[in-house]
Amino acid sequence: LLEQQIDLPLSTKKVIITAGGTKERIDPVRFITNDSSGKMGYSLAKSASLLGADVTLISTTSNLPLPVNVTRVIVESSQEMEQAVLERFATSDIVIMAAAVSDYRPIQEAKEKIKKTESLLTLELEKTTDILATLGKMKDHQLLIGFAAETTNLAEYAKGKLAKKKADMIVANDVSKSNAGFNSDTNEVTIFTNDQEPIHVSVRSKDLIADEILQVALSKIKK
Ligand code: CTP
Ligand code: CA
Repeated sequence: LLEQQIDLPLSTKKVIITAGGTKERIDPVRFITNDSSGKMGYSLAKSASLLGADVTLISTTSNLPLPVNVTRVIVESSQEMEQAVLERFATSDIVIMAAAVSDYRPIQEAKEKIKKTESLLTLELEKTTDILATLGKMKDHQLLIGFAAETTNLAEYAKGKLAKKKADMIVANDVSKSNAGFNSDTNEVTIFTNDQEPIHVSVRSKDLIADEILQVALSKIKK
């Protein structure tokens, strides 16, 4: 058992990871979404699995190769994602919200396809539930990790999200850089925690970024 724990430090841990942009339906043929590939979430699932964790990937995309030993749950909307996460939250040890969750959704989904009759169409949107903030209010033993996609004032906004959502870690990336963020194969992040100086991780593949994030997570759960 000791040997197993040295080699596989997450072998007793359940990890939930969300990935991809949620889709919020306007009508049967249209939706609004975020421009997210899901790659960061898949890389995190792979890293966590290689560290021995029992990993559930809750994803809006099934276009990427599923890492070995990872259970995948496909969802579409932020509401479905919220439900899938909440169902598993009590028994999880680490939750990583890498998904680009829609902040707003159409107030109602039209039952029939909307026809192009008027010259001006106004879409009314309502705020979605903030899944990470909801988990922050509920958590007891879980380590909560969020992301922050920013185009400006990265440190200030990331620290704000860490406090407001009661997360243990916020992984911030500057999505205005072409080598970081949403559709890139590489990323460059700064990890904010409640008890350490920010940790900067320079540009590298999303797989290697994921390894760094999980090393920081490990240091937080090893008490
Ligand atoms: N998040 C979430 N539920 C939402 C919106 C965001 O769980 N409805 C999570 C994201 O998965 C991410 C973190 O919150 O881990 C921060 O997301 P981000 O979009 O950077 O921040 P927001 O709080 O949505 O604020 P804003 O978009 O205005 O910067
Ligand atoms: Ca947002």
